This record gives sequence, structure tokens and C-alpha cells, in this order.
Amino acid sequence: MKSYILFSFAIVLASCSASAPVIIRPGEVWPDDRGTHVNAHGGGVLYHDHTYYWFGEHKGERSSAAWVGVTCYSSKNLADWKHEGVALQVSPDTASDIRAGSVIERPKVIYNKKTKKFVMYFHLELFGRGYSAARVGIAVSDRVTGPYTFLRSYRPCAGHWPLNMTEEQRAATITPGDFPEWWTADWRQATNDGMFTRRDFEGGQMSRDMTLYVDDDGKAYHIYASEENLTLHLAELADDYLSHTGKYIRIAPGGHNEAPALFKKEGRYFMITSGCTGWAPNAARLHTADNIWGPWTEHPNPCVGENAHLTFRSQSTYILPVAGKKNAFIFMADRWTPYHPIDARYIWLPILFENGLPVLKWYDQWDLKEVFQ
Ligand code: DGJ
Repeated sequence: MKSYILFSFAIVLASCSASAPVIIRPGEVWPDDRGTHVNAHGGGVLYHDHTYYWFGEHKGERSSAAWVGVTCYSSKNLADWKHEGVALQVSPDTASDIRAGSVIERPKVIYNKKTKKFVMYFHLELFGRGYSAARVGIAVSDRVTGPYTFLRSYRPCAGHWPLNMTEEQRAATITPGDFPEWWTADWRQATNDGMFTRRDFEGGQMSRDMTLYVDDDGKAYHIYASEENLTLHLAELADDYLSHTGKYIRIAPGGHNEAPALFKKEGRYFMITSGCTGWAPNAARLHTADNIWGPWTEHPNPCVGENAHLTFRSQSTYILPVAGKKNAFIFMADRWTPYHPIDARYIWLPILFENGLPVLKWYDQWDLKEVFQ
């Protein structure tokens, strides 16, 4: 009898928590289990073993640079976050690529089912060189929360041509040095025709704002702002996810996109990006493709309503598929506060669909359980 009562009590509790609202408040302070605002900016989320893991940039009171590293938080319901500590620590070694004070942005973690390793990619800028290095950093761990071991950083796809660059474009000889001025019609044409891809052919392609995407077949892709942030590249990763194969395409040449975030719904790929205005927000862009290798088509801003032209004062970072729900995706974005970087806020909104295309609307707060029933 006693155990029957306990059992019934457990069932009632479980069903209560299953239907309890999961409230997301975009733009508010998000306290973790210690009561401290989550410090995981430019982040991404990995769902593994029934738990969400949120990885992001640790930011300071005054500095956006990496003085700590990449943080990790875990959650079962996407509203309550437990601080798991620093997943990738910056190095005290001044010779290290990830020495304290370098720039580590937009970390993303994926899981490799074959090797059983967790693989982290991030945008790396070397200490004291502003944003000129434009490299990708790669780290790996046996445990999801880390510690991650830094492997290497480089500019991807050195010595490889994009699949969608013609023979004529590959052979052209015009260089950025031929243009005393940027943004002229001729400069734009040369840029669209791959002038910067050619310039960086030997040393590797520039790699700044980035995301990772793992497709249903387990193939993983690195999508990054390249060519002086003028053109996005989508590049295939090796089977162990630890390097690039050299197969890649250019997307929206000269379109000046950054902050890519990608998802797939019913066989179609969707990518939301931003324009390039530093920490200041701008209008989001939407791109779709039926094949990941393109062609990619651009559509109007998916945001509607007040502040739609500023992506509700935020910039995309990741699109999170809600586990166990069909066609349920959360748009994750950052509302940057460059003068107080640690206080930057998280804008998470449900992706709605109208006429087959994503639509983003502002909510002061929303219930994940109610929106994604
Ligand atoms: C915009 C990028 O999206 C951010 O990740 C960061 O690199 C800032 N620019 C720096 O100005």
C-alpha cells in the first residue's frame, strides 16, 4: 500500500513537471543555478543524452576578449541552467594560439558518433592582432562538459577551390591591390568573382563568425564569414570532424553576411544571418537551399513587427531544434552590450512558419510548452 501511494505520488509529480510551463524571457537577465546571469555569449547548444548543453563566450565586465575561455551550462528544460564551468580554458602560455586575451567567439560543439568525441569549433583571433588573423580554432574532449583540449587553429581550405567558382574566375589575375578604393562597381564585381578567394587560395580562407551543422547523414559542415566578411563559405568536415576536407562553396558572394545559424526542416535548409555592423544590430537575412551545396537563395528579413529592422536589437548565433518535437526551432541571438560585455542579453524566439518560410516575432515572454505543443 505504502509503495503504491509513493508510486502514485511520483506519477503525479512527473506529469505536473511535464506540463509545467517553460518560460523564456528574451532580453531579461537569465540567472543560472547560482543566481548569476548566464555568461555564454555567441553560443550554441548541443543536445546529448537527454540534456541540453549551452556553450558560449565568457565575457568580462569591461572586455570582450577571452580572459577565461568557453563556458558550459546544462539544462533539461531550456529554462533552468546549471553552470558546468569552463569547457575550454584560455592558456597562460603566451606562445599558445589561445593565450589569455586572444579573441574566442561563437564556439559551437558537435558530437561525433563514430569517435565518441565532442568537437568544438570557434572563431579565433590571435592576441594583439585585432581581427586580422581570421582563423578557426578546433578543440576536442571525451566529456561533453570538457575540459576540451585545443588542437590547432588555421584558415580553412588552403589550396582548394570552391566547388562553385568557375574556371574563368579561378584563372583571373585581378587582385585587391588593383583597387585604390573599395565598394566601387568594378571592385564589387571582382569581389563577387572571387578576388579574395584567389588571394587566400594558398594560405587558407579567412574564417570569422561561424556555426557548425551536422546533417542527418552525420556529415558535418562549418559555415563561416570569409573573404573580409564579404562572402560566406560552407565547408565539409572530415569524418572525425577534426579538420576540413577542402570541399566548400561560396554563398551570397559580396553579400556581407555574418552570424550564420542554420537548420533543416522537411529536407530544406534554412540559414539566418546578419549584416556586418560590428556590435550594433542590423536586419536579419534569410537564405534557403534544397541541397546544402546550393544554390542558396536569399529572402526578405524573417523578422516582423517593431524593431524587425534591428532583429529586435540582436544578432543571430544559433538555431536550436527542440528535442522530441517536430519542426520546433528556437532562434538564439545576442543583444550585445560592448561597454559592459558580461551583461549582454539573450534573445530566444520561437521560429514560426508562414508560407513555408521562417517568421520571427517579438515576445516579452513565451512558454515553450505552449508554443511547441
Ligand atoms: C560582429 C560579430 O558577429 C561578433 O561576433 C563580433 O565579432 C563583433 N562583430 C565584433 O565587432
